[in-house]
Amino acid sequence: MKITLIAGARPNFMKIAPIIKAIRAASKEKSNISYRLVHTGQHYDDKLSKVFFEELEIPEPDVNLGAGSGTQAEQTARIMVEFERDLIRNPTDLVVVVGDVNSTMACTIVAKKLNTKVAHVEGGIRSWDMTMPEEINRMATDALADYFFTTSRVANDNLKNTGVSEDRIFFVGNTMIDSLLTNLVKIKRPEVWGKHRLEDKNYLVLTLHRPSNVDDFKKFETLINAIDESAGVPVIFPVHPRTKKNYDQLSIKPQFVVPTDPLSYLEFIYLVKNARGVITDSGGVQEETTVLGVPCLTLRNNTERPETVTMGTNEMIGDDIDALKNALANLKNGKWKTGETPELWDGKAAERIVNILEDMN
Ligand code: UD1
Repeated sequence: MKITLIAGARPNFMKIAPIIKAIRAASKEKSNISYRLVHTGQHYDDKLSKVFFEELEIPEPDVNLGAGSGTQAEQTARIMVEFERDLIRNPTDLVVVVGDVNSTMACTIVAKKLNTKVAHVEGGIRSWDMTMPEEINRMATDALADYFFTTSRVANDNLKNTGVSEDRIFFVGNTMIDSLLTNLVKIKRPEVWGKHRLEDKNYLVLTLHRPSNVDDFKKFETLINAIDESAGVPVIFPVHPRTKKNYDQLSIKPQFVVPTDPLSYLEFIYLVKNARGVITDSGGVQEETTVLGVPCLTLRNNTERPETVTMGTNEMIGDDIDALKNALANLKNGKWKTGETPELWDGKAAERIVNILEDMN
């Protein structure tokens, strides 16, 4: 079976790395799965792409479509035009997409219109928040995909509720967690550690890049001010390129918030693992903190990853500044739930996916 794997943006890379490793391991045992890796070029900065390929030992993509940035429609359209050309030249049995970025949806639409089957890794999760571009990507992808590799039973139910038959849904666990568990032995102390004399459990990590938190300058400034006023310990903030423009225009100079360039995967996980807590609006970070047992304060009103709240260390703070201050006070006083690891988030999801693909042959 020939598969085409799609990756476009930073959170995709941790999800495809273990799938490629599992395919390569199976091919040593005479598996008949071969793959071609397509990078859409949605993320192109070395710090958002190249460094992840190096650290996660992902082979060079077979092609980079060079789609780049733009409005939602511009970016999606560019990926579609380029991927259509590529797929016509390189037909495949199955296109495998991961996650919920624009590349995920764009390549799914193209593949289905060329009568090619699609498997969605991380299918079925829902925030039900239609203001998130990712929710639209998830819904459109899942409306078209043929097979679903899911991270939770809730995701299975979401799919079944939209009419997907059970034989197309495979609950396999979480490939992002495969990457996390494999790489824990390799994590690297980032430069900011020494520079700011960080100590275990005596600092926080902040990541913010959702349009709803960072594109509205007033809201962004209010959030940064509130965090800076109530943190009481250094808050290491690797600033996403999308967030940088507004960070550079803040009218106050934060005392506790320490901005840095985006970190590599191994550096970021080092920082998260040893932090007192993490403040974030990322989806993946909610999952990583749950598995690492690190408190997570999510600055969103909903999550497509509810198990990180019901079982894990995650708490939804929304944009309620008082709730944020209370949560930071609880964290300081050591009052936080401990949490458990969700079912099948055990580092073997990619292996399960490849076994299932082999059975489809
Ligand atoms: C995208 C995903 C989001 C994911 C995030 C992780 C969508 C809709 N969003 O959001 O789900 O959580 O990636 O980072 O797919 N930019 C650079 N260099 C780059 C890439 C982007 O400077 O290599 C800047 C550009 O100004 C660009 C902006 O970041 O316009 C946003 O990039 P884009 O890929 O559109 O979305 P993200 O916010 O990164």
